[in-house]
Amino acid sequence: MSDAKTVFVRTYGCQMNVYDSDRMTDALAPVGYSTTENLEEADLVILNTCHIREKAAEKVYSEIGRLRKVKDARAGTQKPMTIAIAGCVAQAEGEEIIQRAPAVDLVFGPQSYHRLPELLRRAGNGARVVETDFPAEDKFAALPAAEKAVTMKRGVTSFLTVQEGCDKFCTFCVVPYTRGAELSRSVAQVLDEARRLAEAGVREVTLLGQNVNAYHGQGPDGTDWGLGRLLFALAEIPGLDRLRYTTSHPRDMDDELIAAHRDLDALMPYLHLPVQAGSDRILGLMNRKHTGEEYLHLVERIRAARPDIALSGDFIVGFPSETEADFQATLDLVREIGYASAFSFKYSPRPGTPGANLDGQVPEEVKSERLARLQALLSQQQRAFNASKRGTEMDVLFEKPGRFEGQLGGRSPWLQAVHVEAPAELLGEIRRVVIEDVGSNSLVGRLVGEHSGARAPMEKADTVEANAGGVA
Ligand code: SAH
Ligand code: SF4
Ligand code: F3S
Repeated sequence: MSDAKTVFVRTYGCQMNVYDSDRMTDALAPVGYSTTENLEEADLVILNTCHIREKAAEKVYSEIGRLRKVKDARAGTQKPMTIAIAGCVAQAEGEEIIQRAPAVDLVFGPQSYHRLPELLRRAGNGARVVETDFPAEDKFAALPAAEKAVTMKRGVTSFLTVQEGCDKFCTFCVVPYTRGAELSRSVAQVLDEARRLAEAGVREVTLLGQNVNAYHGQGPDGTDWGLGRLLFALAEIPGLDRLRYTTSHPRDMDDELIAAHRDLDALMPYLHLPVQAGSDRILGLMNRKHTGEEYLHLVERIRAARPDIALSGDFIVGFPSETEADFQATLDLVREIGYASAFSFKYSPRPGTPGANLDGQVPEEVKSERLARLQALLSQQQRAFNASKRGTEMDVLFEKPGRFEGQLGGRSPWLQAVHVEAPAELLGEIRRVVIEDVGSNSLVGRLVGEHSGARAPMEKADTVEANAGGVA
């Protein structure tokens, strides 16, 4: 491609989509595209979409409506706009998007984006292109690595997809259909990407997978390695001080992974371990393949290995046929565990999933009322967890400038946002901090050894995490 072009990517959904969006721009860099924050001037706009709940999917069409106006205004000028729909809605709806939204030029699924330059060439010739096959080639092997300067600009924390897809078929979930069969990247590929990130200044890597702890990538010795073994190898990479992973399924927490939590300082004491519901009958209908008791027992084992671990989870209320007693079992389980943070959702029947056809769909107002009760309990637990850190010392990785002059924003080992008065040169560094003030969503700390002057103001509406609830 001769002249320089710009691409604007808007990302919906989970962390894996965030990772994919970066990799899409990596795939486009060799053919002359750089990223822009300004949608109005972009040559190419990509919406990287999420299909997990109905609301998420519907957002896409309203956004396409807005984009169409910009595109129409530019039609016939020297600078036409190409609109591409990527991600899980693209995979699930494919051709339907082309029918429903005439402004869209290109639709491609999560397994095809390494072929973006070629797809764009085809779409550039006036054709409207849909690409939702699951190709045989290895997407990751085909993708170019990001340039060091690009990685450095992306910051000191990074996602790294190690596993994709899902074979579990929970009856509420679209992921096995949108992301396809479970697949792990090889250990060599993962270590190579992690080393490159570390060399570009990344200090914390979060391994991603729809079922990340089902990871079974081919090791250098020819055997399949589990996630625990992979983490032990990653912990050896100089510069990578912090490791995290998400999202885990309770059925795949094996002994080696639990041992990694016991033995690795770099593995942060935070675990997103969705349980969805507390009633065994509902868990059975959801096809989760474990009971509430088994989950409690698992958490006991994890806590025995790493007593200070913070747990987070996902919950669905109002799954078909859920009674008040079933819902009470969810509340009981939450009380028993004590979560540091959590995501909770009203059940959203998804076309093509078995749950959508089950009898006993729960009325919307019952779902809303249960969700409110569950969220009240979960946020009480989150506040209590945050309050327990008041007056304690912890390591904070400074990730970005703070909201106020002279402040930096960082994360605690337990993924809490921490605001600290600190000089800009500490960006990317880990420092000891004492917690002086606690909000429901963030902490305020002071560098140990420094005396506080005026107290840093609390953030108001900051969220500890903002995503669709872990990696789907
Ligand atoms: N792979 C993870 C997460 C799946 S998707 C796991 O197995 O737990 C992220 C979260 O979205 C899920 O944990 C679930 O709580 C929620 N979710 C998925 N499908 C949903 C649906 N149809 N309605 C409401 N919430 C849903
Ligand atoms: Fe797979 Fe998780 Fe969806 Fe279940 S909820 S089907 S484990 S992605
Ligand atoms: Fe959404 Fe797809 Fe992630 S459905 S939550 S973007 S895997």
